[in-house]
Amino acid sequence: MQLGTLDLRDAARLRRPAIASPGAMTPAVIATWRGRMINEHGSSHVFDGLATQLAALGRTPDAEQCRGFAAEEREHGMLCGAVVEAVGGAALAEVPPPSILPTHPDTTPRAAVVRNVISICCLSETVAVALIGAERLEMPDGPLRTLLERIWADEVGHARFGWRYLANQLGELDASELDAVARYLPLAFGHLEAHELAHIPVTTSWPDEAVAYGLCDGADARLLFYETVSEVIVPQLEAHGLPASQAWQDRRTT
Ligand SMILES: [Fe+2]
Ligand SMILES: [Fe+2]
Repeated sequence: MQLGTLDLRDAARLRRPAIASPGAMTPAVIATWRGRMINEHGSSHVFDGLATQLAALGRTPDAEQCRGFAAEEREHGMLCGAVVEAVGGAALAEVPPPSILPTHPDTTPRAAVVRNVISICCLSETVAVALIGAERLEMPDGPLRTLLERIWADEVGHARFGWRYLANQLGELDASELDAVARYLPLAFGHLEAHELAHIPVTTSWPDEAVAYGLCDGADARLLFYETVSEVIVPQLEAHGLPASQAWQDRRTT
């Protein structure tokens, strides 16, 4: 896989929050926020891809909204990079090529877009709302909490878009398209779990002051991830008539 360079140094320096040095935690703070920078920036490609698919369906206002979300994700990347720069690191990273959204040729284009909206907004973005929301509650008042609140507010919008789209579009699909959406859920859940676990450290215990720098306890974050799936995502999908509970049990990555 050919790696590319993500260089957000100039934009990140302009956004640096005024935070005190994390001392011995500095390498961990840099690694955490650089990882977030890569992730957030990567999400911009996902929303650009979704916008292109929505535009191809003639859903222009939805496509424009997703273009706006892509711009927000680029800004989130710069804001996370700004934390890296604020503690003496460089908002610079080697990154994999942008992910390309699946076109799902086994079903119709409109059912394919419903699948992608579920995966992106109803799953990933809904988990982001829970994880970032929890972190924000633990963080003391200050510039880093303000930065996180801004990101969190945007993620709420990204998740809501998906749930609204689902509510509006599922009723338009015929039986074979609905079946195609249902068939896809085990794979969507499997990829979600693999992605989230890859980004949440298994066991990390930090000193108490670490929450002020956004260093999270891995075990707590994993628990919150699983609770978000079982208490929010699965019941909401079931309420829309999708067999999400079974799909979560049958989750797979291939
Ligand atoms: Fe984001
Ligand atoms: Fe997002």
